[in-house]
Amino acid sequence: MQHVAIIPAAGVGKRFGGPQPKQYTTVAGIPVLVHTIRVFQRCGLIDGIVVAVSEEYRETLEALVEDYALNKVRDILIGGSERQDSVAAALQSPTARTADIVLVHDAVRPCVSDELVLRVISAAQHFDAAVPGITPSDTIKEIDADGFVLRTPPRSGLRAVQTPQGFKRSLLQSALAHVRSRGIRVTDDASAVEAFGHRVVLIDGEADNIKLTTRSDHERITQYLAAAASRRPAH
Ligand code: C5P
Repeated sequence: MQHVAIIPAAGVGKRFGGPQPKQYTTVAGIPVLVHTIRVFQRCGLIDGIVVAVSEEYRETLEALVEDYALNKVRDILIGGSERQDSVAAALQSPTARTADIVLVHDAVRPCVSDELVLRVISAAQHFDAAVPGITPSDTIKEIDADGFVLRTPPRSGLRAVQTPQGFKRSLLQSALAHVRSRGIRVTDDASAVEAFGHRVVLIDGEADNIKLTTRSDHERITQYLAAAASRRPAH
C-alpha cells in the first residue's frame, strides 16, 4: 500500500501580511513549510511527498529540499489559482499516481503530530475518506444575508475540521473532477468528496494542530514547536 502526502503550498496568504507567503515565514529560523514537510519526512508509513508551489517559489522550495535533506519530496509542481486546483494538479504528479492513499495537508499546519498522521492513514484505509476535527469551543450561529441569526446548532454535533485529510486516491481524484466540472468551490478536500456523494468519517483532531493565519498563531506555533523539539531526538 503506497501512502503519499500532498502539500498544497501555492497560496499567497494575504491575511497574514509580510513580504512573502506565510508558509515561508520562519519559526526558530526554519521556514514553516519545512517544519510541515518534516512531519511526513519522518513518518515511516509515508512513501513520498508531493508539494504544489507557485511558479516564483519553485526554486526556493528546491533549495530548501536540498538544504534540509527532505529526500521524500519526489515531485514539486506548480499549483493552481484555488487550493482545490493545486491539489488536483498534485494528484496528477507521477508520485501521487502510484498512491493508494493520499494525505492532503496544509503547508501552514506545522504542529500536526506524528500520531494524528498515523490515525488518518488508518481511518482512510478503512473508510476511503477521513478527516480530523475538533468540537468548537465557541457557540456557532448560522446567520442570514442581513446578519440575523437563523439557528444555533448544538455544539456536540459540530466539528471544526483540520488537515491532514486522507483519501483513497481514486476517490479524491473523481471527487475533485466532479466539483471542477460543476464549478463548485470547496474550502477543503472532504467537501469535494461529500459533493460527490461519498461518506466521510470524522476522527478526533488536535487543538494544537494550528493553522498559521494570524500573528498570534505564529506565537503559538513557535511555542509548540520549541516544546515538541525538546521532546524529540535531534534531526
Ligand atoms: O488560504 P488557506 O490558508 O486556506 O490555504 C491553505 C493551504 O492551501 C495553504 O497551504 C496554501 O498555500 C494552499 N493553497 C494552494 N493553492 C492555492 C491556495 C492555497 O496550494 N491556490
